[in-house]
Amino acid sequence: MRQDWLESHQRRVVPAHCLYESTGQAQRWLAYARAWAPIHRGRDYQQLYERAYDLAWQTIGNAPFDYVGYGCGDGLKDANFFGSMPSPGQLETLRLMDISASLLIEAYQRLQSLKPEAWVVNLASMSDGLFQRSETPQRPLLLSCLGMLPTLGHRHLLPFLTGQLRPGDLLLLSANLSPSSNPTGRQHILTQYDNEPAMQWYAGYLIELGLPRDGFSCRATTQDLEGVEGGFRIQVMAHLKKELSLSLSGARINWAVDDSVDLFRSERWTSNGLRILFQTHGLQCLEALESEDQEEGLYLLQVADG
Ligand SMILES: C[S@@+](CC[C@H](N)C(=O)[O-])C[C@H]1O[C@@H](n2cnc3c(N)ncnc32)[C@H](O)[C@@H]1O
Repeated sequence: MRQDWLESHQRRVVPAHCLYESTGQAQRWLAYARAWAPIHRGRDYQQLYERAYDLAWQTIGNAPFDYVGYGCGDGLKDANFFGSMPSPGQLETLRLMDISASLLIEAYQRLQSLKPEAWVVNLASMSDGLFQRSETPQRPLLLSCLGMLPTLGHRHLLPFLTGQLRPGDLLLLSANLSPSSNPTGRQHILTQYDNEPAMQWYAGYLIELGLPRDGFSCRATTQDLEGVEGGFRIQVMAHLKKELSLSLSGARINWAVDDSVDLFRSERWTSNGLRILFQTHGLQCLEALESEDQEEGLYLLQVADG
């Protein structure tokens, strides 16, 4: 992980997980999420999640199952999901995974009564072998992956998730949607990333690295997602007004005045573009729930036959 960190910072790219990892960054992300994340933005979105949880419970029935929460954050959504569990004895194992120990502690406390395991992991570089499942007993797994597709990106995350699923397992996945990808539609979406709490969150990372707040400025833009119909990426670049020089484990990072640092990325899809991606990655959609404004989607998926 240290090597990845060094190499990406030498290329002036901040890996997504860095923005969440420290306690300060976790707190700044929570402040931003509470102000702007769909789940905190109104009853419509909350009902969307409640409907998705009901459908997941209907699909699982009363059968015993294992649960893994990938990138569970503060565990709010996982706790809401388990709030409507029909039969408490049916949950066999509950694993919470996130890069941020600070967020994981909050998630652990929220779900403590269900005796979770809490794992600090980097899902961007996790080897398939690390969490190999035993062949017996063949309990189904519910893999919950909420808010992660925009963060880690479809190119990495979808093949990884497909590789984790066996026939009979379920994947509950959320995605950030956009009703259109024309300039007006993109501009509307951009306001969710170009606001005060968001800027404090991105900037917090560079300040923790040692740059003063007046040592850089941040700008949010959008670009097409290559090869994905209607998809686009929100990107925040930092323009440096002061230099930063770091020395770690004998390696150096030298950022100069006028350098640009790729600080944050998040992906958006149209509903149709996303369904094509699911098919391409061998995922069959059992249920699709999309908010009325077409900005948030929740999908119950399984690996396609054959
Ligand atoms: C957008 S938040 C979503 C949190 C939560 N699932 C939710 O929907 O509210 C993304 C989460 O992914 C975690 N994360 C980011 N990169 C990660 C990585 N490489 N490995 C593991 N977790 C990561 C962050 O710490 C954060 O909790």
